[in-house]
Amino acid sequence: MSALQKMMGWIDDRFPLTSTYKAHLSEYYAPKNFNFWYFFGSLALLVLVLQIVTGIFLTMNYKPDAELAFASVEYIMRDVEWGWLIRYMHSTGASLFFVVVYLHMFRGLMYGSYRKPRELLWIFGVLIYVALMAEAFLGYLLPWGQMSFWGAQVIVNLFSAVPFIGEDLSIWIRGDYVISDATLNRFFAFHVIALPLVLIALVAVHLVALHEVGSNNPDGIEIKKKKDPVTHIPLDGIPFHPYYTVKDIVGVVVFLMVFSAIVFFAPEMGGYFLEANNFIPADPLKTPLHIAPLWYFTPFYAILRAVPPLFGSQFPGVVAMGMSIVLLFFLPWLDRSKVKSIRYRGPIYKIALALFIVAFIGLGYLGLLPATPIATMIAQVFSVIYFLFFLLMPWYTSIDKTKPEPERVTG
Ligand code: HEM
Repeated sequence: MSALQKMMGWIDDRFPLTSTYKAHLSEYYAPKNFNFWYFFGSLALLVLVLQIVTGIFLTMNYKPDAELAFASVEYIMRDVEWGWLIRYMHSTGASLFFVVVYLHMFRGLMYGSYRKPRELLWIFGVLIYVALMAEAFLGYLLPWGQMSFWGAQVIVNLFSAVPFIGEDLSIWIRGDYVISDATLNRFFAFHVIALPLVLIALVAVHLVALHEVGSNNPDGIEIKKKKDPVTHIPLDGIPFHPYYTVKDIVGVVVFLMVFSAIVFFAPEMGGYFLEANNFIPADPLKTPLHIAPLWYFTPFYAILRAVPPLFGSQFPGVVAMGMSIVLLFFLPWLDRSKVKSIRYRGPIYKIALALFIVAFIGLGYLGLLPATPIATMIAQVFSVIYFLFFLLMPWYTSIDKTKPEPERVTG
């Protein structure tokens, strides 16, 4: 027995190293037909790590103090060695996190990955999405620019629309009557430690749930149903390592090329990743003409603005915005189709999904613009489409003409 084997034996007697490696990598069988859309889970993991590592380095020079925060970010950008790179990696990483997660979720919608037996995997995913939105919102206050301040002002004020307890609730969140140093301190605490811990824990249970049930695939059929009678290995399964570890590296390389191109050549991305107004220090006495959240929140912001106030209260809009996210949790039970993958679904689901995507992107675009009467009207139409996609789903998925699923995975 070699020294290495002896050492491994010593470890394995005390810690399940080899068995874990086998169960989750070298003998974890994933469907052999993964395509482009299956890159985004591992990319989301990569971005999570990037955000945590760059975040740690930013924290070393950032000052969570209303008097110092803005200047400390400028100091990082100009004086700290490589500080500009760390900051741009973190700000670009935030936007690309949402790009990756939106594509990851879209894959789920296309292949019915939220359906039985993956309901919990999906629910953990939606919880990750909610936590990620909270994390991004809290982080955006930290540079203490005009958009940080006024964006937080607008969003925290939404809580005051809640009947009876609203005013107290928003004061409790801010720790003050306006966004202030107290708010900055608590947002910092949540952004750098509380929510990252929640995110890491949720990603861990997301992956545990994934490995319990196994991955879905572009055909939406269960590979565990057809196993080799002797080895009990799924006939359409291949070991995750080395096949998908190597394939995922290709995705990582392409992703890092796009990421670097943005970081080095267009870190502000024309105002979509870093807003011009946020290069002006926060001024509580000067409201910017046009307050818009970053692009990844704008679909929900557009839904909020599309709903007219009731007796002067914004509460209905706030409820609609909340519901637009809550509905995602119910997706596994709203879909009544006989098949999972879009490949075998009928025309109705395909049209519904296409309309939903157009509405979501359309809302995202409208949320960036000032709310003119015509823009509001279009946002109302898109909002109705958004909600009908979910609310009518039990009906249209059950009447849709599906094609028979294949016995084994194709291509
Ligand atoms: C930090 C964010 C996230 C990370 C790191 C992450 C990680 C992963 C990984 C590594 C996989 C397996 C590889 C793959 O199928 O692409 C996966 C699968 C999956 N994730 Fe996520 N995920 C995240 C967010 C989400 C969100 C927001 C949702 C949905 C709301 C979601 C839903 C799913 C589903 C349904 C699967 C199984 C897909 C299939 O087998 O077809 N995930 N996730």
